[in-house]
Amino acid sequence: MEELGVGHPQRGALEQILAAGDRGRDLVRQLMAFARQQPADPKEVKLDDLLLARQGLLRKLLRPGVQFDLVLEAKAPAVLADPVQLEQVLMNLVINARDAMPNGGKVSIETANVDVDDFHAQQHPKVARGRYVLLTVTDTGTGMDLETQSHIYEPFFSTKAPGSGTGLGLSTVFGIVKDSGGTIGVYSEPGHGTTFRIYFPRCDKAPVVPQPDKARPLRGGTETILLVDDCKPLRMLTKMLLEPLGYTVLSCGDSGEAFRVAGEHSGTLPLLITDVVMPGLSGPMLADKVASIRPDTKVLFTSGYTADEFARNGAPGTERAFLTKPFSRDDLVRKVREVLDS
Ligand SMILES: Nc1ncnc2c1ncn2[C@@H]1O[C@H](COP(=O)(O)OP(=O)(O)OP(=O)(O)O)[C@@H](O)[C@H]1O
Ligand SMILES: [Mg+2]
Repeated sequence: MEELGVGHPQRGALEQILAAGDRGRDLVRQLMAFARQQPADPKEVKLDDLLLARQGLLRKLLRPGVQFDLVLEAKAPAVLADPVQLEQVLMNLVINARDAMPNGGKVSIETANVDVDDFHAQQHPKVARGRYVLLTVTDTGTGMDLETQSHIYEPFFSTKAPGSGTGLGLSTVFGIVKDSGGTIGVYSEPGHGTTFRIYFPRCDKAPVVPQPDKARPLRGGTETILLVDDCKPLRMLTKMLLEPLGYTVLSCGDSGEAFRVAGEHSGTLPLLITDVVMPGLSGPMLADKVASIRPDTKVLFTSGYTADEFARNGAPGTERAFLTKPFSRDDLVRKVREVLDS
């Protein structure tokens, strides 16, 4: 995109490809979160902004005849939660609403700022005194009796036909809401629709100042980098992103080849960038072997697994630098410089 310049006619198409890639990345994260494979990454999120950004997606979950209303009144205050998980909360609630309205109806999502004082806390014993962003999702569907309501947050509880519901939706929602310190409540009557209310504690901390880091221009270098990844397209892309900045990249498809190149290369080799999970020697094992012949070579691990997971699996050397895939060019370039200069 940079090479084409701002006014280039193909730029729009590339922006679409980039957006589709981002969307794919988010979806995978969501699936991983659903399977509880990805630890939460809480940030300050403005619910209204999230809803505005995702309203198209939510709308598409509903049948064409269903009315969809957004009433956003929370405005500025943020909540502290993982935005991908929040999106998952919204999707689960909207999908449930859809399933409860086989003959059409209306779904509305509302946000509001609510201060629960002592009086209100007495009236709603589940919600403690405090300042909240209240998210309300209402449908005009079949509703639920009290017996059903008492089980909805249990994993695998579903009244849907086998194969059409796993019963994990609301238990996931419940877990996410609890993780963010929130409270979820339901009001429903058979034949009169359902309302879910989620109270997220308001995050009144000073807003985070944009990272000065991101504003700094990207810096390259003239070092030689040994790059190891068994995924060829990623290998090619990484090389393509680093070489224009002045680096020389020796790229290898497996650890055996990489170890050989590390031994044969005549110049210095200040950095090894290696994937963690590869057939044959893993990244950490390769790093140890390279360290035995080139003790000065620094290591940057890349993986689709998060650093936490990497640590949990007991891989050695977790104190070493780590870059989560998928990474952007800026992430890569900054990290490479940071590791080289460390
Ligand atoms: N908006 C709603 N209206 C009526 N019933 C609901 C609504 N939301 C949830 N339920 C009831 O709660 C049950 C559990 O919901 P949950 O989202 O956990 O699982 P599911 O929708 O059955 O399956 P999954 O979400 O895993 O595909 C549903 O099967 C349904 O009986
Ligand atoms: Mg569901």
